[in-house]
Amino acid sequence: MNARKLIIAIDGPAGAGKSTVASRLARKLGYINIETGAMYRALALKAVEEDVDFESESALVALAERSHITLEPTTEGNRVLLDGLEVTQRVRERDVTEAASKVSVHPRVRAWMVARQRQMGKDGGVVMEGRDIGTKVFPEADVKIFLDAAPEVRGDRRFRQQSTTGNTKPAAVVAEMRARDQRDRTRPNSPLVPAEGADILDSTDLNIEQVMERVEALIAAKQVASS
Ligand code: C5P
Repeated sequence: MNARKLIIAIDGPAGAGKSTVASRLARKLGYINIETGAMYRALALKAVEEDVDFESESALVALAERSHITLEPTTEGNRVLLDGLEVTQRVRERDVTEAASKVSVHPRVRAWMVARQRQMGKDGGVVMEGRDIGTKVFPEADVKIFLDAAPEVRGDRRFRQQSTTGNTKPAAVVAEMRARDQRDRTRPNSPLVPAEGADILDSTDLNIEQVMERVEALIAAKQVASS
């Protein structure tokens, strides 16, 4: 049995199930899980609070450099701290969600994030999820999974999550999610694409247990291949 602590990268669009899979997997393996989207969200929140222009790359980088963004992995997902204050719920709200996908297009903002994410995962024993983990943060990850699902299904899942906290209409949630996806997939820098060598898993017709089974089978196959 290979006991080496792996780096597991999970990428994909919103609503594909990345966070649920990453936290379950981390719990099962005794690894930490890192939700990199929460870092972009935390920076976006600070930009909202300080009225920084989302178009201004240099202002956003300066803002990042004087920010203290901390992710605390827990069994329920990541606790997010911005300058020492808990913002876990706040960063999930609509205005910050929208802002995160705008601040994340800038190459120098991404470089700042990627450097920190590499540092957080370098010792292995990590399930890191986002949009560019297999392509940019850890192209050499032991396991790279691209988790996808049909847009209608992803929109529906996102709506169910948000409807517990907000008063948004399903059509609005789906429209916003599509716009955000489009921005993530078409940005020139680090667009959302499957990494070279990634296993693509479509969760459209799968429940979480079935997704977990497939993910665990992929990991077991890699461990056998590398032992
Ligand atoms: O994953 P989550 O929905 O929290 O991510 C919020 C936004 O942050 C995404 O829409 C995307 O624009 C950006 N992001 C990114 N790269 C990552 C993670 C998130 O560009 N690795």
